[in-house]
Amino acid sequence: MDYRLTVLQKMNNRMNIGSEEKTHIARYLSFLLSGEKVAHHCAARQAKLCGNDQAKYFLIKQSRQERFHAATFQSAILWLTPRGVTNPAKKQMQQYESLLINTTENNDLFSSVVGLQVILEGMGNVALSHFDHGIEQRGIGYQKIRKAILAQEDSHHEFGLHYLKENTLSAAANHAGSYLSLINDMFTSLQGLFEFFDEDTCHYFAEFNHNLPEQLQEYALGYHPNT
Ligand SMILES: [Fe+2]
Ligand SMILES: [Fe+2]
Repeated sequence: MDYRLTVLQKMNNRMNIGSEEKTHIARYLSFLLSGEKVAHHCAARQAKLCGNDQAKYFLIKQSRQERFHAATFQSAILWLTPRGVTNPAKKQMQQYESLLINTTENNDLFSSVVGLQVILEGMGNVALSHFDHGIEQRGIGYQKIRKAILAQEDSHHEFGLHYLKENTLSAAANHAGSYLSLINDMFTSLQGLFEFFDEDTCHYFAEFNHNLPEQLQEYALGYHPNT
């Protein structure tokens, strides 16, 4: 049986939430889905640039894992809201992807890893772990797949942190300021959703900043909501 179908059936059996909440969960998942798609394509481009066999293998594997995460979230969104939903941070994620495409087009693997595995996945880890906690609280279940996705995401982020340690932070990493500014905009776009779930956006942002590696702390920004 299709694994994703089993997941959705389990959700169906256990989920006891209203339609408005389903829509908001789907919107949050839609944001996570957009990040998975960006990561899937970016890791594949990084693998082509990478000269180290072991790292290349990791990146190919990461790209496959991201595709699986995207397919899982897509199925969950369709189940929650068959008509689909909009991603509240679509524009910012597209801008972020443009930055990442730019780095690989310029053969700048280092800046690409800082952008994807270190910063975007650092933010993704915060977003995903809070989402996971919310799912747990609502008794929705699908623990096995949640654990698998979280563990894979951790390994992607760890890869980025290790890469950062092994390489000197060069001028190429000046992109860090642009990456972090867009992360700030993403949090701002998600603010309405966070409020619906009684979550504090500033808390997410502080957690994200706290987890930034030392080399990037100087680029860290305060959270400035535009609304
Ligand atoms: Fe992922
Ligand atoms: Fe990832």
